[in-house]
Amino acid sequence: MKKKSYLCQILLNMAKTKTTHFCQSCGYQSPKWMGKCPSCAEWNTFVEEVIQKENPDKKGEWRTTSSQKIAPKPRLLQEINPLEQPRIVTPDKELNRVLGGGIVPGSLILIGGEPGIGKSTLLLQIALQLDNLKILYVSGEESEQQIKMRADRIGLQHDNCYLMTETSTQNIFKQVEAFEPKILIVDSIQTLQSSFIESGAGSVSQVKECAAELMKFAKESNTPVFLIGHITKDGTLAGPKVLEHMVDTVLQFEGDRHLVYRILRVTKNRFGSTSELGIYEMLGDGLREVSNPSEILISQREEEISGIAIGATIEGNRPLLIETQSLVSVSSYGTPQRSTTGYDAKRLNMLLAVLEKRGGYRLGAQDVFLNITGGLKIEDPAIDLAVCASIVSSYEDIVIPTGVCFAGEVGLGGEIRAVHKIEQRISEAEKLGFKKIYVSKFSFKSLSTLSFKIDIKPVAKLEELFNDLFGS
Ligand code: TYD
Ligand code: MG
Repeated sequence: MKKKSYLCQILLNMAKTKTTHFCQSCGYQSPKWMGKCPSCAEWNTFVEEVIQKENPDKKGEWRTTSSQKIAPKPRLLQEINPLEQPRIVTPDKELNRVLGGGIVPGSLILIGGEPGIGKSTLLLQIALQLDNLKILYVSGEESEQQIKMRADRIGLQHDNCYLMTETSTQNIFKQVEAFEPKILIVDSIQTLQSSFIESGAGSVSQVKECAAELMKFAKESNTPVFLIGHITKDGTLAGPKVLEHMVDTVLQFEGDRHLVYRILRVTKNRFGSTSELGIYEMLGDGLREVSNPSEILISQREEEISGIAIGATIEGNRPLLIETQSLVSVSSYGTPQRSTTGYDAKRLNMLLAVLEKRGGYRLGAQDVFLNITGGLKIEDPAIDLAVCASIVSSYEDIVIPTGVCFAGEVGLGGEIRAVHKIEQRISEAEKLGFKKIYVSKFSFKSLSTLSFKIDIKPVAKLEELFNDLFGS
């Protein structure tokens, strides 16, 4: 009899244990293993994960108050006051800018970035800067001593910042309930583990479940939650795509680890624009905001060299003057090399073809190296003109005079096309002391030139520009 009940117990347990297969790339769920994911078409991404739901009612529960159990009633849109909870404006202007004016209460913000780029530093620094708020920093990656060491390095005083090294979401919520922090920071989502799911930390089902629990907490308690997320080798956030769908805001912290500049880019924001960008500098004592990026991005040189041109770009809503450097030299191998940093390689090839066909420059047998300084990645097509000018400057070995900059898109016919926000670009160039800016003739038409002191030179074709610059 005793034996039978033991067997029953095992069978019952077996019935409770459920496994499913998850696509590690997009989070697609399937009862069977599959070679190719029907959702994202990736191969070999299915992994079996154990999901055990003992008590489905308890799933994702973080609070116990009975008042919350009452189902909410529909409310008239007009009756809802948007200012019920104003944004938390942080002392960090770059973060405010990226979030669209401050932290929205109850929002879930995900910050992704390569290891060692400074995600933990950024969030710890933000926590320490918000001196008057009670903050809970939960870390599953580092010990309390390590975080303390980092805080000492940043060197800010905070009387209300609490640390906890914990990975179980149930334990975190237990503390949070008693503690009621005004901001919760979790480093990182991949280390969290919910006891309602069997599979290991960092697996698709765990990440999904923990994020769902944290989202429920954020919305119901109106506490903003910052999540740090790891990224995979190809630069996307590790874990399922659904994670990005769930959260309100996705920020990417990027930059070259060997250089000091870091860029905070927003790729999704339910409460603001996605075209904003924050720039920081990583120093020995933490991250410093860079409020005048153009001045730093343009290098100071004693002697003038060929192959350098300054482009007036717009990143987000901010004008930025960026230095493009080219090196064109005779190729010593059969296939010439083309290499770019910070600029689209396909676009460089296109511009080289345009220069060859329309300008008659024999670049087919040359190695071309292009570098955007400061470790920035530029997608604004207005930098095309500066790229072409720097390539030809290096090819001809003629220096572009200092005080000259460029703003225009180059078309396949060698024509120079108008770009948006031209006034902003021109005034930034003027502010930084530039004497002359080359713009498209078509931008020039609609421009009121009287308000500018800088010499604005309209050009319609690449040929015209090169005649003017190099007299060729
Ligand atoms: P960290 O925040 O640990 O990166 P992540 O959490 O994204 O993995 O930052 C690690 C790097 O930052 C490390 O290489 C050291 C550097 N750093 C500084 O240069 N200055 C500082 O004040 C701090 C705290 C870190
Ligand atoms: Mg870290």
